[in-house]
Amino acid sequence: MCGQNASPEPAADPAGARHVPVLLNEVLEGLAIRPGARIIDGTLGGGGHTAAMLERSAPNGRILGLDADPAAIRRVAQRLAPAVETGRLVLVQANFTAIAQVATFHGFNEVDAILLDLGLSSFQLATAERGFSFAQSGPLDMRFDPQQRLTAAEIVNTWPEDELADVIYRYGEEHRSRRIARYLVRQRPFTTTDELAEAVSRAVGGRRGKRIHPATKTFQALRIAVNHELAYLEETLPQCLALLKPGGRLAVISFHSLEDRIVKRWMQFEASDYLPDPMHPYGGIERTPTLRLITKKPITATPAEMADNPRSRSAKLRIAAHL
Ligand SMILES: C[S@@+](CC[C@H](N)C(=O)[O-])C[C@H]1O[C@@H](n2cnc3c(N)ncnc32)[C@H](O)[C@@H]1O
Repeated sequence: MCGQNASPEPAADPAGARHVPVLLNEVLEGLAIRPGARIIDGTLGGGGHTAAMLERSAPNGRILGLDADPAAIRRVAQRLAPAVETGRLVLVQANFTAIAQVATFHGFNEVDAILLDLGLSSFQLATAERGFSFAQSGPLDMRFDPQQRLTAAEIVNTWPEDELADVIYRYGEEHRSRRIARYLVRQRPFTTTDELAEAVSRAVGGRRGKRIHPATKTFQALRIAVNHELAYLEETLPQCLALLKPGGRLAVISFHSLEDRIVKRWMQFEASDYLPDPMHPYGGIERTPTLRLITKKPITATPAEMADNPRSRSAKLRIAAHL
């Protein structure tokens, strides 16, 4: 039975990196995955959540898995080959902004569950050539999809100082953004991640024993800008709603407050039966809710999971059901 071949063990890649799926049991329970379920995983990564969902939905559940990164598709195709062969797992390299189109093409309308586990995988972080990490020297890339044109190098080396500062401020929530942007514009061009990290560090006066590297927020900001992460998430959530059958569930795991705010506000709006009317401060407009919140507050990792998997420390899981 192919469900038995779908191992929820962490996936390891040739470089030895491992991606441990976060909040795995909470996702399986929250999405109420049952045998025969039809599921979409919009962010395959290492296939950890998908492997476990294949097991839970065995013997005949089916999953459509997307990832913008062709390396993720290749890795999961290898790891979960038996499920692909039997047609239980369909893999598509695509941005999740195309989720409705891809799902319709593959006959995955009216699904039971959709998962978006946002951000980047441990494989992407551990692969120096992808340029996500300042811990190793790599090109200033940071694209999830290597076919995309915009790279971190283009932003850092060509964007005007005020636009660079805005990106660092908005997406990195970095209050020293103006100082960093001014310094980077004076010192550019940069070719590698370690050069950039060193320059950011110098711009803010060095590391001086800080636990968090001074370039952390700038790197997060660049990654979000390169991959249009917030805009794409906003575009995708309503498509997910349209793909769920009544009672079907959507789970989103986010890793920073900017993403979580988008998910929280959208879910709350869709779950509300009343909208304040700006023209009538004491009145409002009634509406028909489309979602029921399963999680009123986001689910976070237990101390044991955080100790085991540091990626889980900032994870927030929100779940809602289509009415
Ligand atoms: C945190 S990982 C997912 C890990 C996965 N749940 C697992 O258990 O292995 C996030 C993945 O989402 C992909 N991704 C991020 N934004 C995307 C987008 N807009 N469209 C498609 N894939 C995206 C990344 O390439 C990455 O592989």
